[in-house]
Amino acid sequence: MEMELNKTDYFTEEWIAKWRSSIRKSDDYKKRAREWNAPILLKFDPVPEQLKEKGKNGIFLDLQYGECHALHLGDQNDEVKSDIILTADEETWIRLIKEKKDPTMMIMKGKLKLEKGSLVLLSTHRAAAKSLLETAPLAETVGLLKPRDVEVNEQTSFWKMVKNRVSQNAKKETPVSISKNTTPVTRQHRGFVSTGKGLDFDSFPMQLFQKAKIYGIWNPATIDFTEDKKQWEGLSDEEKEILIHLSALFMAGEEAVTLDLLPLIMTLAKEGRIEEEIFLTSFLWEEAKHTEFFSRFINGVLSEKPDFERFHKHFYRILFYEKLPRDLSRLEQDSSPLAQLKASGTYNMIVEGTLAETGYAAYYKMLEENDLLPGLREGITKLKQDESRHIAFGLYLINRLLVENPEYKTDFENHLEELLNDATNVIHEIFEPYDIVPFGLDKEWFLDYAIKQFQHRMNKLNLNQS
Ligand SMILES: [Fe+2]
Ligand SMILES: [Fe+2]
Repeated sequence: MEMELNKTDYFTEEWIAKWRSSIRKSDDYKKRAREWNAPILLKFDPVPEQLKEKGKNGIFLDLQYGECHALHLGDQNDEVKSDIILTADEETWIRLIKEKKDPTMMIMKGKLKLEKGSLVLLSTHRAAAKSLLETAPLAETVGLLKPRDVEVNEQTSFWKMVKNRVSQNAKKETPVSISKNTTPVTRQHRGFVSTGKGLDFDSFPMQLFQKAKIYGIWNPATIDFTEDKKQWEGLSDEEKEILIHLSALFMAGEEAVTLDLLPLIMTLAKEGRIEEEIFLTSFLWEEAKHTEFFSRFINGVLSEKPDFERFHKHFYRILFYEKLPRDLSRLEQDSSPLAQLKASGTYNMIVEGTLAETGYAAYYKMLEENDLLPGLREGITKLKQDESRHIAFGLYLINRLLVENPEYKTDFENHLEELLNDATNVIHEIFEPYDIVPFGLDKEWFLDYAIKQFQHRMNKLNLNQS
C-alpha cells in the first residue's frame, strides 16, 4: 500500500528536474565521481505505463568527471550511448532510491541486472554510484503530495514505522558490555551433549570435521623446496618482487587469521555448540599450519630476508591490522548474533572468501602456467582445500545466524558492503607499483575474479528476502 502511494511521484519530469539540480549541487558526488566518465541508463523492466506512453524506457544520465551533463527520460537511442545499463522493475528502483542501497551490492544479490557494461568498472566507482543515488530526491520532497490528503497521514505513519524499526535495530546493535562491577561468574555445565542427546554426526560442522581429518592432514615441514630454490635463482628481479609481494600479504594474512579466530571459537563454545567447536579446532590448527607453511617457503627459498612490511599498504593495513582483529575481538565483549555475523562476514566472506581466493588465483596464474616452484604450488593446493572448508563453515554459520535473526540482514549487508570496498581497494593497491605487471597479470581480471568470488558466496546466503 505504501509503495503504491509514492509510485506515481517518482520518475516524473518534476522529479527528474529535482534530481538534476541535486546532483549538480552535491559536493559529495563531485568528489566521489571525479574519475567517473560513463553515461548510464537506469532502465525499467517492465516499463511503467506512464513512460511507455512517452516512448521512454528509463532514465539516462550523462556523467563526466563529477559533472552531470544530462539527465532525462531515456529511450533506445540512449541505450546505444550508455556505457552501463542497469535494469530493474519500478519497485526495485524506488526501493534503491529510498533506502540508499549500494547498486553493486544489489547486482551481486541479483536484484539489479547489469544489462550492459562491466561490473569491475561499476565496482571501481561504487562510491560514486552510491553517492549518485543518494542525490536522488525522495518523492515527498518533490512537493507533489497534498498536505491535507488522507494519503499523507498514511505516508506519515509509514515513515514513523520505518523510523521505529531503525531505532529498534539501533538498540539491538548496542554492544552488550560487561559491567566492571559484576562479580565474575564461574561457568558451569548443566549437562553434556556426548552423554545426553549425543553428538550430531549428520550436522554440517561434523561432516566438515570428517573431511578435515582426511584432507587437512598434511605437513608443511615435509614439503621439499629444493627445486623451488634452484628455480628462484633463474627468475627476473621483477618476477621475484611480485612473488615476494604476494607472499608478504599471505604471511601476515595467515598469521592474522590464526591470531584472531579464538574469540569466535570461544563464543560458540560458550553457547554449547560442541559440533561447531569440534570443527573449529581443525580450522585453527590448519590456519596455524598455513602460517608455518609460508615461513618455511621463505626460509627454504630466499637467501636474504626482504622487508616484507613495505608491501602492507594502506587498505591492507585497514583490513588486516584493524578491521579483522576489531570484528573478531569485539566478540570478547559482545557475543550477540549481529557481532557474530560481522565477525564471520569479515573473516570468512571477505578475508578468506574474497581476498585469499583471489590470491590463490594469482599464484596459480604465475606458477602453474609457467611450471614453477613445485613446493610452493604443493602447499598452496593443500591450503586451498583447507580454506574451502573454512569458507563453507562461515557460510553455514552466517546462514544459521540469519535464519535465527532475520532482522540483522540489513546491518550485515551494510557491513559486507564496507568490507568489500576495502577488499577491492586492496587489489587496486597491489597493482599500483607495477608499470608492467610480471607474469602478464592483469588488474581487471583479478578485480573481476574477486567480485565473482564474493558474488558466488553471496548467492549462498539467505539474503534474498530482504
Ligand atoms: Fe589460511
Ligand atoms: Fe582459512
